[in-house]
Amino acid sequence: MKFFIDTANLQQIMEAQELGILDGVTTNPSLMAKEGIKGDANIKKHYVDICNIVKGGDISAEVIATDFDGIVREGEVLAALHKQIVVKVPMIKDGIKAIKYFSSKGIKTNCTLVFNAGQALLAAKAGATYVSPFLGRLDDISSDGLLLIEQIVHIYRQYNLPTQVLAASIRHTMHLIKCAEIGADVATCPLNVITGLLKHPLTDAGLAQFLADHAKLNG
Ligand code: E4P
Repeated sequence: MKFFIDTANLQQIMEAQELGILDGVTTNPSLMAKEGIKGDANIKKHYVDICNIVKGGDISAEVIATDFDGIVREGEVLAALHKQIVVKVPMIKDGIKAIKYFSSKGIKTNCTLVFNAGQALLAAKAGATYVSPFLGRLDDISSDGLLLIEQIVHIYRQYNLPTQVLAASIRHTMHLIKCAEIGADVATCPLNVITGLLKHPLTDAGLAQFLADHAKLNG
């Protein structure tokens, strides 16, 4: 399973990159706003800065337009910024048309804001590179987000659909581990979820004991 980081924070992207396990980045307009990135030129520069940190990984940059012509215009500009850019398009009617267009032009896409299997099927039929089911937001409203990931993985495998399942809106380490069990292609999560995988109290206690025993004889 590929690990993407779900942030527009350059420090956190660098930290995950330095860990050596990062395969890509997802951003969205809310994450960009959280970092105070505003204005067309600054937004574009920020995407290029992210690409330069995560060498070789796919970087999702989301369009703001919601009509076909606007999505295509914006997406083509974003895709031309850097070869690692993946155009992130919302799951709406014109979004699906635009994904089909981008796919015919060889431009990678990430279909975002997916909340059911029917939407995921449409995204794959249109030729999306990635589909992003938001599992945490479903859990937030007492729906089963992991069940949706499982359903989409099953449908895609059944028909050999090449669209990659990018589990998004991940809230904690168990979400991440369960996505790996289910067979999601990618999980995008905040840095604390990735680093949370490092932690186990028995690891800490075991290491403290090893170091103490070594120090007893070696000073
Ligand atoms: C996905 O690409 C989105 O950016 C993200 O995972 C949304 O997560 P949230 O529900 O924590 O905002």
